[in-house]
Amino acid sequence: MFPTSTILALALGLNIHQSSAACSEALLREATERYVATQSTGNLSWFSSLLSPNATYVENGKTLTGWTSSSLASSNLTTTLSTPFRIDNTHSIYDLTQCGSFTALVVTDPSNPHVIGAQVRLGTDNKISKIDRIVTTPGDWLFNATGTLYYTLQEHWDVIPVEKRDSREVIKAAADAYLDIFKNASVQVPWGSPCARLEGGAYTGRGLPTDSCNVGVIQSYDMPNRRYIIDESVGVASLLLEFGSIGNAPDSHLFRVEGGRLRFIHTMTYCEKKPNSGTTPAHETPFPLPYKHRFSQETSHTAIDSGKLGIPSALP
Ligand SMILES: *[C@@H]1O[C@H](CO)[C@@H](O)[C@H](O)[C@H]1NC(C)=O
Ligand SMILES: *[C@@H]1O[C@H](CO)[C@@H](O)[C@H](O)[C@H]1NC(C)=O
Ligand SMILES: *[C@@H]1O[C@H](CO)[C@@H](O)[C@H](O)[C@H]1NC(C)=O
Ligand SMILES: *[C@@H]1O[C@H](CO)[C@@H](O)[C@H](O)[C@H]1NC(C)=O
Ligand SMILES: *[C@@H]1O[C@H](CO)[C@@H](O)[C@H](O)[C@H]1NC(C)=O
Repeated sequence: MFPTSTILALALGLNIHQSSAACSEALLREATERYVATQSTGNLSWFSSLLSPNATYVENGKTLTGWTSSSLASSNLTTTLSTPFRIDNTHSIYDLTQCGSFTALVVTDPSNPHVIGAQVRLGTDNKISKIDRIVTTPGDWLFNATGTLYYTLQEHWDVIPVEKRDSREVIKAAADAYLDIFKNASVQVPWGSPCARLEGGAYTGRGLPTDSCNVGVIQSYDMPNRRYIIDESVGVASLLLEFGSIGNAPDSHLFRVEGGRLRFIHTMTYCEKKPNSGTTPAHETPFPLPYKHRFSQETSHTAIDSGKLGIPSALP
């Protein structure tokens, strides 16, 4: 006869061979899905069962500590989180070493468009210890949610075969090198070819094998306060940081690395002063493409709605 905890673990599909301190991939995925369900429904109850009593919520660099259900619900920081959105696309990566995920959400709804990046971290109790979000809306850096969705769906961020995977160190070094050239033009960046940058909704790629990400950055600024989530299975590093070039704006950079080289770079940058922090962006959308389809099954991006999350529609 199994002890009750084992039966519970089996019922929840958990790996009962993991020690209590190990990261549970099942719980990390559930926490991530519940975060998405929360944003989809606007109902904070979706993740309150997984919340550590000592959790931290950060939105665009502003911090709310020591949540309780009521302080979370009443905080003006969580207004966006408690607004239901019709989410067009979600893309998540999972870091089992740090026990955290990163999820990009795209909401094209013309009445309230958003592009949101969130790092969700679990503590040693396997409960959500921190949610750190960059929330962008019209007026933020090159913001265009339909453009973000359109270009995102052209790209492939699929699982990389085990024998071709880069190590965490290689993926991190490629991401850091890219951010370091903003300060130091001598840094060697492992540019891939092709490589494309999606900044807000503006795209540098033209679908050509010669597409390059080495098309200029705003120098010479530090990119401090980097927070990392790294998923080797897809060669992706998520970095939340302060974007030095435009006044340490709260920023998300997502890097896809293939064979040690940068393949795709996606950014979201919150601008206190809109539009675009009062600056003229260095590059505009180079060519407008028709907006063809909402979802793609060919990429690892998953189109979801709140009814298809694979978790119960009623909370336990
Ligand atoms: C949020 O979800 C909980 C649990 O399902 C439910 O009891 C509550 O009525 C919901 N709140 C709203 C505002 O829909
Ligand atoms: C709660 O957070 C504080 C500050 O980060 C930390 O010192 C303390 O150990 C935490 N308590 C628990 C129970 O995690
Ligand atoms: C949220 O509330 C705090 C304190 O109540 C206030 O200082 C802050 O300006 C408010 N933020 C927004 C975005 O309204
Ligand atoms: C947003 O991007 C789409 C797709 O590239 C484009 O058709 C549209 O013109 C862009 N909107 C703005 C305001 O730039
Ligand atoms: C700039 O980067 C180069 C190449 O990595 C390095 O040799 C140099 O020390 C760096 N300069 C500064 C000021 O960090």
